[in-house]
Amino acid sequence: MTTITLALSKGRIFDETLPLLAAAGIEVLEDPEKSRKLILATNQPDVRVVLVRATDVPTYVQYGGADLGVTGLDTLIEHGNHGLYQPLDLGIAKCRVSVAVRDDFDYASAVRQGARLRVATKYVAIAREFFAAKGVHVDMIKLYGSMELAPLTGLADAIVDLVSTGNTLKANHLVEVERIMDISSRLVVNQASLKLKQAPIRRLIDAFAQASKA
Ligand code: PRP
Repeated sequence: MTTITLALSKGRIFDETLPLLAAAGIEVLEDPEKSRKLILATNQPDVRVVLVRATDVPTYVQYGGADLGVTGLDTLIEHGNHGLYQPLDLGIAKCRVSVAVRDDFDYASAVRQGARLRVATKYVAIAREFFAAKGVHVDMIKLYGSMELAPLTGLADAIVDLVSTGNTLKANHLVEVERIMDISSRLVVNQASLKLKQAPIRRLIDAFAQASKA
């Protein structure tokens, strides 16, 4: 029996992938919020789900630790393409990548005056490319989370972070000053798996495509 391994991250991506799996007749048999297991069985004996950190999904799929994965466009850009086959925009876990500053920071005039901007972010590749295209000089500070704190503590002038409802920014007296790009989650497939396990993977891709259109 050929086993298909799908890499997902806990939270929004896992939750919003479940209906797509259901449309393909696949039901995950365990709740990751209740169990500590990292390999989850499904009702299909040849399909299993592995739970990894969101930033590790492209790595698992690139090296064949998983045949397929669901990952945000943000994570994918930061990881680099590295031969991942990307057949589908699933249209789930939608948000945007934006620049935000303290509500008392004059971003427009800092940019106009050509000041060097200190930017804290987890999304270094996206931020670098964005500010380079604008011709704004930046000092990049790499963080791994709680970006909102950086402008409040004087660590940075601006952050580049994901925004969904905007509630996190508001709660921390930050304002969105630029929208860099819209984000949604993508299906990524290991290229060797696509050749070696063509039939079951194609079936999954087709079912996901149908369900995400609906
Ligand atoms: C993201 C992001 C913001 C928040 C934005 O964090 O980093 O903190 O969501 O959402 P909002 O606009 O609806 O308030 P997430 O919860 O994904 O966790 P992370 O900090 O680990 O990225």
